[in-house]
Amino acid sequence: MPKRLFAKARRLVASKSAGVVLLAGFAAGFIALSLFGTSMIYTGTEQFCAQNCHEMANNNTKEYKDTIHDKNRTGVRATCADCHVPHAPVPLYIAKFGALNDLWSHHVTHAVDTPEKFDAQRGHMAERIWTYMKGNDSRECRSCHNEAKMDPEKQSDMAKARHTKAKKEKLTCVDCHYGIAHKVPDGPGPQELEVDKAFISRSAIF
Ligand code: HEC
Ligand code: HEC
Ligand code: HEC
Repeated sequence: MPKRLFAKARRLVASKSAGVVLLAGFAAGFIALSLFGTSMIYTGTEQFCAQNCHEMANNNTKEYKDTIHDKNRTGVRATCADCHVPHAPVPLYIAKFGALNDLWSHHVTHAVDTPEKFDAQRGHMAERIWTYMKGNDSRECRSCHNEAKMDPEKQSDMAKARHTKAKKEKLTCVDCHYGIAHKVPDGPGPQELEVDKAFISRSAIF
């Protein structure tokens, strides 16, 4: 079968229609790439993450509203995808495919479709995110907050003291800054979680 197909393809390419075949191939490839790119962009928009999904609109989106990353003096914001979706291509694709699990729990298992069910799962979900952020040294936070460019002289005394301690003790942003966009669940916080820091390299591009 592959042999026959191969022979057929060779005849086609050898014939006058080869140019047409090639063009059709390019067109199909272009359309597929555009669809892929558009879906990657659309599924990272605030509208998609914060509003289209009812589980988020009823819980995390409400909590995030008016926090410092939503509304502040300058209007420079971090929206859902800025903190939750990696920026490098391969981790980005892995995260997007992982998110298919959310579709499964929305349409099939209905695991978090009421605020009560959501709160019951929150500790577990938060722990997964803390583990991930500790594992990659708060990579997504650092895509905006450049530690080397944070000027201690412009920080409050408390922030200055704690950031010096953070460097000495090799703590990462989310060790201290958690519950900054959502309700904090009961149970252990990020500092209590043991995480292998080599788990996801901060500079991972694949
Ligand atoms: C898309 C960029 C962006 C990302 C990603 C981001 N931040 Fe921010 N963050 C900001 C901006 C902008 C402000 C300052 C808002 C202002 O005061 O004008 C801010 C403010 C803060 C503050 C100061 C809060 C205050 O009350 O003054 C902390 C703490 C902080 N971010 C921690 C984090 C942590 C932790 C993460 C990762 C989980 C994170 N940020 C991810 C842009 C970002
Ligand atoms: C050891 C705990 C700790 C760690 C780790 C830590 N911070 Fe902080 N940070 C603090 C405390 C405490 C404050 C002061 C909060 C206050 O004044 O209300 C603060 C304040 C800030 C502020 C506001 C500064 C100001 O003067 O208003 C920003 C922005 C911030 N942190 C970002 C980060 C980022 C980004 C990281 C990771 C690179 C990080 N922090 C790691 C404890 C920590
Ligand atoms: C500034 C960074 C930041 C932004 C912006 C942000 N999150 Fe989060 N999110 C976190 C962190 C950190 C956690 C881990 C739990 C915690 O500390 O609150 C988390 C946890 C979660 C969880 C797990 C359940 C929970 O409450 O712990 C969900 C779901 C979630 N975020 C969705 C969203 C959605 C939807 C948006 C946009 C409306 C959003 N996040 C915006 C940082 C952020």
